[in-house]
Amino acid sequence: MKKYRDIAGDGGSDIVGQVEAQQRRLRERLSAVRAVVAIVSGKGGVGKSALTANLASCLAQGGCRVGVLDADLNGPTMAKMLGVRGQRLVVAPAGVEPPRTSLGVKVMSMDLLLPSDSAPLTWDAETQHEAYTWRGSMEASALREFLADTNWGELDALLLDLPPGTDRLATVASLVAELAGTVVVTIPSDVAHLVVRKSITVAGQVKAPILGLVENMAGLFPGPDAAGLAREASIPFLGRVPFDPALAAAADRGEPFVAVAPESAAARALAEIAQALRSALSLPASAAPAP
Ligand SMILES: Nc1ncnc2c1ncn2[C@@H]1O[C@H](COP(=O)(O)OP(=O)(O)OP(=O)(O)O)[C@@H](O)[C@H]1O
Ligand SMILES: [Mg+2]
Repeated sequence: MKKYRDIAGDGGSDIVGQVEAQQRRLRERLSAVRAVVAIVSGKGGVGKSALTANLASCLAQGGCRVGVLDADLNGPTMAKMLGVRGQRLVVAPAGVEPPRTSLGVKVMSMDLLLPSDSAPLTWDAETQHEAYTWRGSMEASALREFLADTNWGELDALLLDLPPGTDRLATVASLVAELAGTVVVTIPSDVAHLVVRKSITVAGQVKAPILGLVENMAGLFPGPDAAGLAREASIPFLGRVPFDPALAAAADRGEPFVAVAPESAAARALAEIAQALRSALSLPASAAPAP
C-alpha cells in the first residue's frame, strides 16, 4: 500500500479505496475464524506471550484449529516461543502462508519479516517528530495487514498476543469488530495489580467480554491475591499458573511446555485455563488432535 507521502497532486493513489479493499479482505478473512481472543496486560513481562503460546498449544492438542498473531510489533516473541523462528514465509495467491508449529498452530509475527536479530522496527518518516505522530496509525495498519493478508484458513481460535500498554487493546478492538473476548494477565505483585486494574477498565470498555483474569508466576512473590482482584472487578478468575523455570526454558527452546511436561503443575493449570476458554467460547472439544 502507498504511504501518505506518495500522495501528490490530486491524490491519484486512491488510498481510501485501498484501505476499504483491505478492510473488506479483513472481514472476509475473520469470517472464517470462530473466536478472536486478545491476551492483554498493561504490565510488561508478566507472561502474556508465554501464556498465549501455551494456551494455543493446549487448544491445538485438544483438537481446535488455532492461529496466533503476534501483535507485539516492536518486541515480537511468538515465533521464538512457538519454535517457528527462521522459517520462510511463502506468499501464495490466497495470502501469506503462516508457518505451523509441531502441534499445528499457525503463527504470524513481525519477527518472521525482520532481516536480522538486532533490527528494531522503524517507521518510515522524515523526522522523529513525524514518526511519533504516525506511529499509532502505522501500528494499526501493520496489524490490519497481518490479519487480512495471512492465509489463516478456517480457525476455531485466533489468539492475539498484545504488547504491554493499557492503550493497546483499543487499537486491536478498532480493527477486529468481532473480538470474542479478552484474557487479562497479572502476576502476584501490588505494582502489577496497579497497572492491571487499568487494563481491566480498558478491557471493560471494548465491546468484547472479559473472559477472565489469569495469575501467572504464582508463588514467585508473596503478593496480593489475583482472585480478590477478579472479584473486585466482577470478572471471572481463570486460575493460577505457578512460576516454573522449566516453562521459561521450554519457551526459550521454542517447545510447547504443555506438551513436553504435561504432568507439571503449571501445565495442568494451563490445561484447565484452556478448558475454561473452550467452554466460554463454545469451541469444539474433539478427541482428534489438529493436524
Ligand atoms: N509461569 C512462568 N514460570 C516461569 N517463567 C515464566 C512463566 N511465565 C512466563 N515466564 C517467562 O518470563 C519471561 C517473560 O514472559 P513473557 O515474555 O511471556 O512476558 P510478556 O508479558 O509477554 O512480556 P512483554 O510485556 O515484554 O510482552 C519469559 O522468559 C517467559 O518464558
Ligand atoms: Mg510479550
